[in-house]
Amino acid sequence: MIRLTRRGAIGAGGAAAALSAAHAAPLAATAPAPRETVALDAGWRFHLGHAADPARDFGFGLSHDSYAKSGEIGTPVAGAEFDARDWATVRLPHDWAVDLPFMPFGPPGSEADRSGAFQGFKPVGRRWPETSIGWYRRALPIAAADAGRRLRLEFDGVGRDCLVILNGFVVASNESGYAPFTVDITDVARPGEENWLVVRCDASLGEAWSYEGAGLYRAVRLVKSHAAHVRRWGAWVRADPVPAGAALRIATEIDNHGPACAARLRSTLIAPDGGRLARLEAPLDLAEWSGRTIEQRLDLRAPALWSPATPQLHRLITEVLIGGQVVDRQERAFGIRFARFDPDRGFFLNGQPLRIQGSCNHQDHAGVGFAVPDSLHAWRIEQLKAMGCNAYRSTHHPPPPAVLEACDRLGLLMLCETRQMSSNAEGLSQLERMVRQARGHACVFLWGIGNEEIHRGTPTGARIAATMKRHIRALDDSRPVTEALNGKLGQGAAAILDVMGCNYHLDEIDAFHAANPAMPMIGTETGSTVTTRGVYARDDAAGLVPAYDREFPSWASTAEQWLRFYAARPFLAGGFVWTGFDYRGEPTPFERWPENASHFGQLDSCGFPKDNFHYYRAWWSGETVLHLLPHWTWPGREGAPIEVWAHSNCDEVELRLNGRSLGRRAVERLGHAAWTVPYAPGRLEARGYRAGRPVARARRDTAGAPAALSLSSDRRRLAADAVAVVRVALVDRAGVEVPQADRLVSFALHGDARLLGVGNGDPRSLEADHATRRSTFNGLCMALVQAGPGGGAIALEARAEGLKPALLTLAGLG
Ligand code: GAL
Repeated sequence: MIRLTRRGAIGAGGAAAALSAAHAAPLAATAPAPRETVALDAGWRFHLGHAADPARDFGFGLSHDSYAKSGEIGTPVAGAEFDARDWATVRLPHDWAVDLPFMPFGPPGSEADRSGAFQGFKPVGRRWPETSIGWYRRALPIAAADAGRRLRLEFDGVGRDCLVILNGFVVASNESGYAPFTVDITDVARPGEENWLVVRCDASLGEAWSYEGAGLYRAVRLVKSHAAHVRRWGAWVRADPVPAGAALRIATEIDNHGPACAARLRSTLIAPDGGRLARLEAPLDLAEWSGRTIEQRLDLRAPALWSPATPQLHRLITEVLIGGQVVDRQERAFGIRFARFDPDRGFFLNGQPLRIQGSCNHQDHAGVGFAVPDSLHAWRIEQLKAMGCNAYRSTHHPPPPAVLEACDRLGLLMLCETRQMSSNAEGLSQLERMVRQARGHACVFLWGIGNEEIHRGTPTGARIAATMKRHIRALDDSRPVTEALNGKLGQGAAAILDVMGCNYHLDEIDAFHAANPAMPMIGTETGSTVTTRGVYARDDAAGLVPAYDREFPSWASTAEQWLRFYAARPFLAGGFVWTGFDYRGEPTPFERWPENASHFGQLDSCGFPKDNFHYYRAWWSGETVLHLLPHWTWPGREGAPIEVWAHSNCDEVELRLNGRSLGRRAVERLGHAAWTVPYAPGRLEARGYRAGRPVARARRDTAGAPAALSLSSDRRRLAADAVAVVRVALVDRAGVEVPQADRLVSFALHGDARLLGVGNGDPRSLEADHATRRSTFNGLCMALVQAGPGGGAIALEARAEGLKPALLTLAGLG
């Protein structure tokens, strides 16, 4: 069914659509985009304000009449004359919380101590007025020639509760730190003059039980367009299966912010191989100051389908023409795929059963906090894909655009979840913006309206869910709605959902299915196994948990337990492990100072795989996997028993120590092989067999003392702004990685690049993220290198006392 060649269109209809090119033809050169999008990443100044003292908040609120007259917000910061030269120069994405010192929240064992651990011990909140307000300021490039254009600011997400002020006028306020918003600034912009944009963020109140960052941590853009233009996220495509292929519905929302005009809409569809599939045109009579939605239809024979295995993306080019001239143009990727849930057999994509092998993820990374550049988001998705993930649940908030784009491009389905489960105006507005932003993405297969809400099992919860579902339906009739319920599966909101979302509580699943055989079910959250990278014994005093698949909080399970449970129940569509990556905050099971990051990830906060990463890889990725744990450097433990595991999908694994066989073990499906081995230094080796034939090898060598540093990165060629995640390892004289010793590593960077941040994956580390040095943790640390626009050679140098330094060269592509 999936073909990579161009396909012809087999019919077109809908709102007066006409097919002007039924057969594939080279794409004609198009005029330069008449809309202009200016990225506002650079040029910002930043200063902390004060949540309790107006004098230290640039006078904001000093006089009670801030909102008495529009255009007079009552702080000099908003004015053209304000001198911000002593403010810090920052570049977006920016998270001011990550630079605050770690701080104990209360005495050991107190509730304050626990809540600090959940927040990652960064002093943000009402108790820290001096570090919870952030002011941003920059000039906006609006030329005299922009007069007559519509001017809009697009914010992808601001942490949080912000006030957007342009030339002294409040042009917007926005509550949630996760919801994108758009601001029309045409009325107060001054083309050809200075324009000062100010954003005041108030992070005093949080929206999550984990670290949340603060500030302009997602992108901001200035969009200049014609009065008649395509609305933000306004053009999107749905596909329904028809016998010969796909019936497409292309919906386009056009706003006319000006006088009435006769226009035309032109939608051009490009196949993944670059060939033009069709060009549909429709007349557009736009009344003065109006908005319209046009639906065009097109049937495609045997289209190239999108799936995790073949994430083939089409492109839709949307143009608005007046008098034959293109006055607005937008281009976006879309995928054609057919998704459905079956109450008995789980999930189907393009007619084939597909088990959901998902992970839940927050959105922070070591070294940068919430300020994750797009290319680092994409790198993270690549790691999940390597683990065998075919799905991503964006917990517990809408994802940034870069995550949606990477999931589309790399082939991960997305459970897209709103932040606030509420049917009040704010909750519905957040929901609406999430749906509008994400509905054009092939990856999105399920809308999530809530997670473990207190009211889930009540009639109130049911009414809220029903209102939210109605709201979604009006915006997108093509995807089902779920809510993540931790227990109470049969109660309250449960009856409203299209797909029952189960968090943990394996004991309720069979009974619910028996009582509700027509309702599809999915594991919205599973696992929550806790592991610390490179640690093989629990140490409560130190706050470490072993990386064997063994420890979990009361509501949770091991990886093996949930995978086996789900595999035995075909009616379950699969599940999302909590979590792909470690994240800041919620350091269960040690919810106390100085633990500031989670142990839940299959990769640590730097993206270094833990051992369970290989367990999932063995059963999810389809590759032949043989991974041995633990490391084999245990000086002083000679003769003592060490528990050795192999995560493998081979039939059998044989273990050898220094050439001597310790026996072959069969590996049960979804299990692992284990031996108890008296420690002797040397080489621990494993061989994996299938049908009696050797197919895989793994080994662990005993390391000597650290002698050198070693640097590596899977990205060596970097376009401007792209990030290389550099792995820094301690090695002995023979080049064997040293898994236990730690050193302080210093970095120096040469070339057009910046050292974006450093980390080591230690959930207790109190070292700074923005620094030129970092200690290793169990032999590893990480440096993030971001290429500048200039291109050329980039060299990262790493040094540690007494060790041979290392140099990594990267190529900046400019
Ligand atoms: C769930 C919750 C997640 C996380 C997880 C830890 O109950 O939805 O956000 O807290 O537990 O196991």
